[in-house]
Amino acid sequence: MVERETGGEARRADGQSTWIPATLPRRKPGAGMTAIVCRVVPLLTVLCACPATLSAQRPCDPAPRYPGPSHDLYCIHLFPALGVTASGTAQLDWIPGPFTANVAQDGTNLWRLTFKLDSLPPLPDGPAPGYVAWAMPQSLDPMIRLGTVRPGTTELGAFALQRFLVHVSAEPDTTATTRQGRLILRGESAGTRLRPADNYEFFLGGIGVPVDATEHMHHMAPQPDSLGWTGVPMYPRLDMLLSEMALRPPVHPWLPVPQPAAPPARPREVLTLRNGDTLDLTAGIVHRTIAGRGYTMFGFNGQYPGPLLRVPQGAHVVVRFHNQLPQPSTVHWHGLRLDSRFDGVPGLTQAAVKPGESFTYQLVFPDGGIFWYHPHVREDIQQDLGLYGNIFVEASRPDMWGPVNREEFLILDDLLVGEEGLIPYGEEHPTHALMGRFGNLMLVNGEPDWKLSVKRGEVVRLFLTNVSNTRTFNLSFGPGTRLKLVGSDVSPFARQAWVESVVIAPAERYVVEVRFDRPGTVAMINAVQGQDHMQGRFFPIVDTLGTVTVGTGPARPELTASFGALRTDRVVEAETGALLRANQGAPPQKILELRATFVDLPFVTQRLMKVDSLYHNPVEWAGTMPGMNFAAIGTQARWTLRDPATGRENEAIDWRFRVGDLVRVRLVNIRETLHGMQHPIHLHGQRFLVLAVNGVPNDDPAWKDTVLVPAGFAVDLLVEVSNPGPWMLHCHIAEHLQAGMMMTVNVEQP
Ligand code: C2O
Ligand code: CU
Repeated sequence: MVERETGGEARRADGQSTWIPATLPRRKPGAGMTAIVCRVVPLLTVLCACPATLSAQRPCDPAPRYPGPSHDLYCIHLFPALGVTASGTAQLDWIPGPFTANVAQDGTNLWRLTFKLDSLPPLPDGPAPGYVAWAMPQSLDPMIRLGTVRPGTTELGAFALQRFLVHVSAEPDTTATTRQGRLILRGESAGTRLRPADNYEFFLGGIGVPVDATEHMHHMAPQPDSLGWTGVPMYPRLDMLLSEMALRPPVHPWLPVPQPAAPPARPREVLTLRNGDTLDLTAGIVHRTIAGRGYTMFGFNGQYPGPLLRVPQGAHVVVRFHNQLPQPSTVHWHGLRLDSRFDGVPGLTQAAVKPGESFTYQLVFPDGGIFWYHPHVREDIQQDLGLYGNIFVEASRPDMWGPVNREEFLILDDLLVGEEGLIPYGEEHPTHALMGRFGNLMLVNGEPDWKLSVKRGEVVRLFLTNVSNTRTFNLSFGPGTRLKLVGSDVSPFARQAWVESVVIAPAERYVVEVRFDRPGTVAMINAVQGQDHMQGRFFPIVDTLGTVTVGTGPARPELTASFGALRTDRVVEAETGALLRANQGAPPQKILELRATFVDLPFVTQRLMKVDSLYHNPVEWAGTMPGMNFAAIGTQARWTLRDPATGRENEAIDWRFRVGDLVRVRLVNIRETLHGMQHPIHLHGQRFLVLAVNGVPNDDPAWKDTVLVPAGFAVDLLVEVSNPGPWMLHCHIAEHLQAGMMMTVNVEQP
């Protein structure tokens, strides 16, 4: 029996109010779900649904049958206070919504707790006696009243804390907003294990002391090492170990050679293509100027990003690709369910196109929405240097997207630059093989200061694509600007939702609508919680990605009413509703564990990774261990997909499906992995639904091709096998892919 606490008022760590309304609006009958509306921060609502059953595998489940969500990270054991007999667990549950990682607008983790309590002591006398659960930061202030709990299972509302303590008290009056009664149970979230590293070990090992990196950089004249590396920028204002800063990757540095004849790159053009059209797409060296500095980079047709292709759904288009790069290359058409021969995977669907050679792709566009293209050879170099572009497929049904005043196509990226220009890439193998190459210069459509001017009241639809090597963005227009989330990779959402920010991992797409109703300027920001590994703390990071200038003249047509309403997409609802109901709670048919092994890492890196593995945040948002990450190469880190049914890994895995199959695939991000982190997993040529996250059913599907699996999470997918051929499945962190994290799925035509 599940009971749910439905009302309450509490404070967040920042003193803002967290309000959970006392009424539970009923979802439409038949869905088997109820919904609560969680007010997470003022002015903004997040719609979340609570499952009526607990049949699926959750973090606190004893003796699970299959690999599942991490017990260690997401199940808190509660201990009785002195002289009390009681026991229980508090489970950190995923909050149903459009993203697999739940965070507030400022990047703070959001959780909902499920309590399972046993043998509680008698209640005190009082006007309304009961047990009350509280959450609080380690400073014990503020104490957030989560709600009343009962013996058995109680699910409580959402709250935002990065790491926290949990108390259960026996209250004479459960309506009290501060704890008065006796403490009976207590526990702490795994994040509280973070403590400043014991630097004694590092002194003893003679491998260095923490330094203030920014100050130190001025004293350390970067002498190139024997391979020619001078180092990598340290994270501003974070302590680093000297020995970590001194690490250099054991490969040769590589950058494209400037070509005096290379043209200055131009901003991307929109190419409107019709059925039967042919396009020439040339990858070559370009000269870019970013924030006043010159860079030698790559571009498609001399543009940054590559041209935006606008095509009608169902069209056939021929692309003649010409490789003018100094490296072999291909083009992969990310998210298109096309003929596998034109999928652009070297060694699987074609041979890599050598410098000076060409390859002809025949493209089809069976789905409406936003897609993208990029090389599938050394993505860590080629994509990072600017080889990416969007494809907008205009849907044949006119109601796929609602009315807006304007549409914008935004490609999010980051570039890693130092004092001398671009930090070189590894020639033989990628550098940054631990967490991927985090950049320090944020780019929107290749520009560091993206700008948009709109009229007051204008409703803008943003088609967002994240093409960065590894960075997951938490994008917003600051507190208080509502975002209407309407679509993802391969379709609209069945039900639109208000969100306060968009969590977008590499290769994912989200479609979001924003109304700008106050004249002035609004910043588009990436707001996250960075992890200071040496000091064992989190700190807020806010990057401005661009600005929107809102004029005074009113926008025409006036779209307040349609913008204010959340729509249901009948087509996606009809395609997916029955699939979700039939498959949620059923056991996985295929499992992939996401793991890593490391060989020959420098001593300091091994030690730091051990210290760091006490806790893994669900998402590693920022590159705050730049030295050791930079110096680790693709042969030292082996990122793996492992099939526990056969024990096979990566390319040795042999999955065979038939067109028409529906396959429940569980992706389990194994917590014990040294330096565990999130992985955006992409399947080529098919589409899938997210069935559940950590055992909590998803009730708002969209068709997707890439899904973010946070550290210690288990994400259940339903793969609709619709397209014959050999297809890749891989992590879209460019350096993880290069470090082996890929496999092939073979689909036969029955
Ligand atoms: Cu964008 Cu193999 O992927
Ligand atoms: Cu990965």
